[in-house]
Amino acid sequence: MSARWLEDELSDADTRPERRQKHKTKKPLGRRRLAALRNEEEGEQDDVIRRLRDLGHVTEVVAELKSGKEATAYVARGPKGSVLVKLYRELEARSFKRDGVYREGQVILDERAKRAMEGRSRKGLEMLQAGWVAAEYAHLWHLWGAGLNVPEPLVGPSPYEYTQTTPAVLMRLIGSEDTPAPRLSDAALTPEEARNAWNQSLDGMAHLLRLGYAHGDYSTYNLLWWENTVTIIDFPQLTTRQNPNFKELLRRDAESLATSFRRHGVGANGEATLREVQRRALGVAPTPRVVLP
Ligand SMILES: Nc1ncnc2c1ncn2[C@@H]1O[C@H](COP(=O)(O)OP(=O)(O)OP(=O)(O)O)[C@@H](O)[C@H]1O
Ligand SMILES: [Mg+2]
Repeated sequence: MSARWLEDELSDADTRPERRQKHKTKKPLGRRRLAALRNEEEGEQDDVIRRLRDLGHVTEVVAELKSGKEATAYVARGPKGSVLVKLYRELEARSFKRDGVYREGQVILDERAKRAMEGRSRKGLEMLQAGWVAAEYAHLWHLWGAGLNVPEPLVGPSPYEYTQTTPAVLMRLIGSEDTPAPRLSDAALTPEEARNAWNQSLDGMAHLLRLGYAHGDYSTYNLLWWENTVTIIDFPQLTTRQNPNFKELLRRDAESLATSFRRHGVGANGEATLREVQRRALGVAPTPRVVLP
């Protein structure tokens, strides 16, 4: 598979003027107002949050942290402490444009499901969304159990439990409710902190590689910085060696990590970064955590 092909696939496909126009004029779908989420008095309660409350995972929504392309992040409280609720956008609002590249090589046994997903029917989109949520939980549980610095998933580890929170993924909040951890892309680092963060980020990518994974979107935008520790986030697009694009995705991760770290004055090119990650992947694995069923 040529890199050129991959780049084409990965670049924004929505450049046609009529599409751009549509995005500009239309109120973004999938935004849920904080008022509607918190409310006791304010009228209609958001059904996802209500379900999370009913299931006992959330007792209170504290604040909307960040509204992004694919998901909105909320700070909430639950029985296990502060929760980050990653609420995937409503189906129509999501492009799924990069979905294909990451899903390639995955085997979908059910032919009907496969056709529905490829056809992007409503049913198909629901299946894709449920697939992303389940994938993110499954990856979080696996990586957390393997001892990596990722947020602790707060529902599961049984898929029966965590699929009930679709379209939301619940994990431990990194940082505090007042000051959630910044992304490395936003953090102000001293030169020493920058070297430390770079070093940990290389280790993190190496730990993933040792387990046979490429993150698929590995850069300072998906690395949190809190108490001198780097935490890796955002896992639905994690890919395995089975994916025919694996090597390209790995190379691209190394490239974006190196590029995104330049603002911190730590430098390496993509090639050297990849070689260093591969070297470290032969080293010592982190200590696994005990995950109780
Ligand atoms: N466990 C966490 N603790 C604290 N903050 C978090 C946590 N997980 C995610 N965040 C915050 O929420 C944002 C969105 O999360 P994530 O990167 O997983 O979603 P995304 O689909 O990439 O959304 P976006 O398009 O906004 O980047 C992150 O950039 C980060 O600021
Ligand atoms: Mg992200």
